[in-house]
Amino acid sequence: MPGSRFYLTTPIYYPDADLHIGHAYTTVVADAIARFHRARGREVFFLTGTDEHGQKVQRTALRAGRSPQEFVDGMVRGIQALWGRLGISYDDFIRTTEPRHIRVVQAVFQRLYEQGDIFKAQYQGWYCSPCEAFWLERQLREGKCPDCGRPVELVSEESYFFRVSKYADRLLKHIEQHPDFIQPPSRRNEMISFIKGGLEDLCVSRTTFDWGVPVPFDPGHVVYVWFDALINYISALGCLDPGPGGERFRRYWPADLHLVGKEIVRFHTVVWPIMLMAAGFELPRQVYGHGWLVLQGEKISKSRGNVIDPNVLMDRYGTDAIRYFLLREIAFGCDGTYSESALVQRLNSDLANDLGNLLYRTLTMIEKFSGGEVPEPGPEEAVDAEVRALALEAVTAAAARMEGLEVSAALGELWRLVSRCNKYIDEMAPWALARAGRRERLGRVLYVLAECLRILAVALTPFLVSTPEKMWEQLGLPGRVREQGWDAALKWGGVPFGSKVRRGPPLFPRVEFEAQAGGEGSLPEPVEAPGGAAERQGRAEEAAGGGGAESGAVLKGAGAQAGPERAASLPDRHGEAPPAGARGPGGKGGGAVAEEISIQEFARLDIRVARVRAAEPVPGAQRLLRLELDTGSGSTQVVAGIAEQYRPSELVGKQLVLLANLKPATIRGVESRGMILAAVAGQDLAVLTVDRPIPDGSRVS
Ligand code: ME8
Ligand code: MG
Repeated sequence: MPGSRFYLTTPIYYPDADLHIGHAYTTVVADAIARFHRARGREVFFLTGTDEHGQKVQRTALRAGRSPQEFVDGMVRGIQALWGRLGISYDDFIRTTEPRHIRVVQAVFQRLYEQGDIFKAQYQGWYCSPCEAFWLERQLREGKCPDCGRPVELVSEESYFFRVSKYADRLLKHIEQHPDFIQPPSRRNEMISFIKGGLEDLCVSRTTFDWGVPVPFDPGHVVYVWFDALINYISALGCLDPGPGGERFRRYWPADLHLVGKEIVRFHTVVWPIMLMAAGFELPRQVYGHGWLVLQGEKISKSRGNVIDPNVLMDRYGTDAIRYFLLREIAFGCDGTYSESALVQRLNSDLANDLGNLLYRTLTMIEKFSGGEVPEPGPEEAVDAEVRALALEAVTAAAARMEGLEVSAALGELWRLVSRCNKYIDEMAPWALARAGRRERLGRVLYVLAECLRILAVALTPFLVSTPEKMWEQLGLPGRVREQGWDAALKWGGVPFGSKVRRGPPLFPRVEFEAQAGGEGSLPEPVEAPGGAAERQGRAEEAAGGGGAESGAVLKGAGAQAGPERAASLPDRHGEAPPAGARGPGGKGGGAVAEEISIQEFARLDIRVARVRAAEPVPGAQRLLRLELDTGSGSTQVVAGIAEQYRPSELVGKQLVLLANLKPATIRGVESRGMILAAVAGQDLAVLTVDRPIPDGSRVS
């Protein structure tokens, strides 16, 4: 059990371009950890900020025709607005252009110079501007930056050097004696061999540009941007202030956790500790180097230009969906592939179908069967005790996972409870209890569900921002969920009998994700069973709705989204539903039949036979093919989410079935006019074709 204080940091990001989903990833994870420790009653200090000096920022500002200061001021406003929208609960935001920071950089530089750890010499070597990193000739990989693979430039100038080599043995010893100092273990081993390979003294000043902290005793030099930046972790705490300004430093240093991406672990576990040792400060307790979000096998990065803008995603899906996706989808520490379809799947299955539905179903039943008040429960039966035990166990396990920084696994533990509750509803069939007049039993079942939802609301506060609050409100509980503290999730029985629920709209409306074409009224609405079982076949439905959707898909406007009936299984419909086991096969490719339509409604669909003339992958979209089709009277082009099931060559010459009058949409920059029909069963998909040759353009009716 760590101490009662917890200081954690994110990297301070370069404000040379808008931040992307990768930066959001680190920051959201850090925020969840900060919120978790606060909920546990610890005194948390959570720092983030911006790394504003250096060659890269200066060059970008210049290109934008602005002074560096003016440029970064504008960028920082955008970054702070982004963190505001993502609900990042930082306690301080440090900018390296602030006087409180510059003062400390200069003082540390001066101290190290005076004690002989910094000396002047001639530097001759290579520099990677995107990484702001110096490299020796022998370290280059094929003449490029060994970290990022981009071109390096030759630097030859008089510089100050930091005697890193002098501290190598001490550092190695520290790492060996503190197994938690570098995590996960793979990065620790990497760093140990890096240090054993020999450390070179590090160049820590530049003279060929001036956007940096001036070396106090030699103003022709500016301090190397990494030397400058790393100091943020202590300058933000007022580390040199013996008075009240240094209170935070005395309280929070050493940091409990520096959370960073794996590409900057070396700076944080070699350069930074040696700077601290030399300056006489304690070393941080842990540096955790997490993995990257990758897109088509490449790290998402500003300089590669393959960025995903978190603001756009929030516009589409909302803050909590993005937070949930980032926290859940990627096993913490590993690289993870980003895709919008995976995001939508998480949203539809975990948030809409599992969590949102659970709340909606429960509250609807409390309204319908208990006058909107949480009933007084009848005696507890074995199954209720089992659910109660699971609730406490899941919350305990989630906390243990969070302590071990297994953020995704922590959410997994909580979702075990969500799933169990949904299953409990199906098993207990409260509507049947109501019909049979078994009031006491019904009361217990509804009470167990309300209580589990209360527990979930509390336990979700580290991860999601507005959802736990909405859950709390809808459950009719007093106060605010964020005032509860984690322990409230460990105590069974917090929902008062008779509390009046206030059902709201579904927490997460399902999102239609259409790979083939956008627009309202596209054909294959997911086929649903009248009950909850098929509703919860999130992924299968997803495939049915989107034809094996891929990232290029578009989201329908809110008005066209699934309404409450689709977002939630209404218990009164459960009443009519066959027993759980008899429901539609869902993922096996079926489900019960959708609402009736008239022949006139069907006739509005213009379905034709069309022959594939050409097919090719859509660049940048794993699951999409662009098809050119012969429609008898002419040709058309569609984008179809079938690349995982069909090679382009298999399709050419085939007669397929085309929904021809679907509103055109642009998917991944490619126009799609119409939609290929396909049968979908889970991940499997088969395109529709005709039984024997028939002229292209023939109508299907
Ligand atoms: O390195 N996946 O700033 P930076 C996951 N200023 N995380 C990613 C990511 C991706 N694809 N891309 C970026 C700097 N990140 C220095 C730090 S600290 C004293 C100075 C996250 O703007 C990840 O945390 O290049 C990574 O380490 C950081 O952003 C780099 O941000
Ligand atoms: Mg970077």
